[in-house]
Amino acid sequence: MIGKKSIKKPILSMMLAASVSIGGVSVYAAPSVSAPSAHAFDNKLIKRIHVDSIYNHIDVLSKSPRVAGTDGEKNAVKYIQKQFDSYGYETELQPFTFWGYKEADNFSLTVNGDKLSDVRTFTYGINGDVDGELVYADLGTVEDVANVNLEGKIALIKRGDISFAEKIINAVKAGAKGVLIFNHSEGALNGTLGGPDENLVPALALTKEQGAAIVAQLDAGQTVTASIHIEGAETKESTSYNVVAKKAASQKNKDTNQIMIIGAHHDSVEGAPGANDDASGTAVTLELARVMANLPTDTELRFITFGAEENGLIGSYEYVNSLSDDEIKRTAGMFQMDMVGSKDAGDLIMYTIDGEKNAVTDLGASAGARLNGEAVTYGKEGRSDHEPFHVAGIPSALFIHAPVEPWYHSPEDTIDKISKEKLQDVAEIVGSAVYQAARPDTPALQHARVAPQKVEYPFEERELE
Ligand code: BES
Ligand code: ZN
Repeated sequence: MIGKKSIKKPILSMMLAASVSIGGVSVYAAPSVSAPSAHAFDNKLIKRIHVDSIYNHIDVLSKSPRVAGTDGEKNAVKYIQKQFDSYGYETELQPFTFWGYKEADNFSLTVNGDKLSDVRTFTYGINGDVDGELVYADLGTVEDVANVNLEGKIALIKRGDISFAEKIINAVKAGAKGVLIFNHSEGALNGTLGGPDENLVPALALTKEQGAAIVAQLDAGQTVTASIHIEGAETKESTSYNVVAKKAASQKNKDTNQIMIIGAHHDSVEGAPGANDDASGTAVTLELARVMANLPTDTELRFITFGAEENGLIGSYEYVNSLSDDEIKRTAGMFQMDMVGSKDAGDLIMYTIDGEKNAVTDLGASAGARLNGEAVTYGKEGRSDHEPFHVAGIPSALFIHAPVEPWYHSPEDTIDKISKEKLQDVAEIVGSAVYQAARPDTPALQHARVAPQKVEYPFEERELE
């Protein structure tokens, strides 16, 4: 499906105020104000965008996976820094450490002597060999494990309510020497324990059917034994990087003292070239940095590519935590671009953490209306680097095409699935949105800070596929 590209109608320019909600997705109601001068400014930026440069960045970056902490990421980081430098930016690398994990390469589970298929390991799980009798401990809560005798046994636990890590630790405290967790929905269970923990015991994940079959045997009073084998897993401290390029306000006499951030994540998941996720956002960030390098602005711009997003937004949390209170207060908006070039995804949407519109979605919606005659819609979703900025009270949004393509997080996320038309559209919209606020002829953004809010991302409960 190719995203629709409407004919360009130079009709709208004012910040769009009203919005209505249609089927869970909010739509801006377009006012009928005309201001050709706004269009002239948009064109100043748009005519400088070279979509072939964006495409070429994606081509270079997606030659191999860019898993945080690996040489693949390091090469990407070097490439990105070199581009920013070549545009005249002072570029800074922000290194940080995190717990990297190599999945087990050899593991198996036998139940009453039969080897089970579709069994999975947990990210951050440990190696080991355990044989023992199975005991069903329901959801594995503190109360559940207190109701059964797990001493020296392997606990069988159902997915749900609390994290996988909590279930395992509860069972360990009750004496279990191994844990099996089965799914509550169809399909294989791919989960993470969120991070390393020295109290873990070997644990594997089963399908819902496999779990139900064992529970039925135990309910019938039968003894069920299991044998867990896991080897080759490795938890190691790794280093990842954020790449930060800054452009001070070029109009010293008119400095709004505000900061606007344009970002994307440069890392990918294991086995995926990540052409769309998120070489696309990285490439548009680079091109907007190039285009804006010599445009007069009265607002400080920061172009950032984050590392270790796929490990739990680690780079962007690291970056936000490194900001001073003053910098946070002065940051008027954060534009995150993640998955912005797939031929096979839907239309452009702006996601905010709370589902409410904010300064960033207002600017994005107006830019869409000015350029395409249609405001960009918005909705509620986390799952990317706009989250930590929201948590700090900074208006932020994720620009993405939804629904996402079937190649998401797969080896098929390659350059041949990238649409230049989509890249051009997003570069124009985000570029014009930022430029509307940052150019010297517009007043400083009257940005309402969003209500800071702790976001509980169910990281341990997410499916990894
Ligand atoms: N690009 C995705 C985010 C995404 C995918 C948003 C599909 C909306 C729809 C991102 O790189 C990602 O995979 N995020 C993780 C969460 C993160 C906290 C590790 C995810 O969604 O599983
Ligand atoms: Zn992504």
